[in-house]
Amino acid sequence: MSVLIAPSILSADFAYLGDALRQAEEGKADWIHVDVMDGQFVPNLTIGMPVVKGLKAHSKLPLDVHLMIVEPDRFIDEFAQAGADNIIVHLEACTHLQRTLTHIKSLGKRAGVALNPATLPDGLRYVLQDIDEVLVMTVNPGFGGQKFIQSVVPKIREIRAMFDQAGLFDVFISVDGGINVETGKQVIEAGANVLVAGNSVYGQKNVSEAIAQLKALGSPNRSSPIASAAKKS
Ligand code: DX5
Ligand code: ZN
Repeated sequence: MSVLIAPSILSADFAYLGDALRQAEEGKADWIHVDVMDGQFVPNLTIGMPVVKGLKAHSKLPLDVHLMIVEPDRFIDEFAQAGADNIIVHLEACTHLQRTLTHIKSLGKRAGVALNPATLPDGLRYVLQDIDEVLVMTVNPGFGGQKFIQSVVPKIREIRAMFDQAGLFDVFISVDGGINVETGKQVIEAGANVLVAGNSVYGQKNVSEAIAQLKALGSPNRSSPIASAAKKS
């Protein structure tokens, strides 16, 4: 299964975001992960629509926008307009998740759902068709550079099985928090196909090399549901 790498600019130097984008492109990253925090859903504040707009103007890479905000419906249109390609809302922040996801799709964007470490995957079960991406948090959201929560790994397996059983093989299962070469291996083995990485990319001297190391974890030998479905037809 080929694995996508989404460097998280939260760990980059905010005075040089253009450089961070260039380094990601040079390293052949697949997406740029953008962490939006509101000081309410999480105990931290980061960036909003103007920064997303600026990033979009300076990079061809799709922007994976992770909204760690309460009442995300209030801002979805504006993030779409600013240039977000994937819009990820937190399951814990949505009262009418299906409505939110279909709204994101109606704007021509990929609809994503993020789950905090303690959140059960059950809330996804009846809206699988409406989901393009699941973002499994392996840290409590709010900060970069935290320790990977090992006990969440079986949840990745469960989520992958849910989608496989529904015959939905092209969903992106991303993992966010404490991802490095060791933890990345484990989550890919559990069924993840997107690695979000902040500190293990932008915290390193050689950003391109760090991306390449993560990318190399995508084993061509793992039998992918997508590949086996294609073989059957
Ligand atoms: C945490 C953010 C992450 C963060 C990951 O709330 O959602 O995207 O940037 O950083 P690392 O990879 O350093 O844990
Ligand atoms: Zn994130």
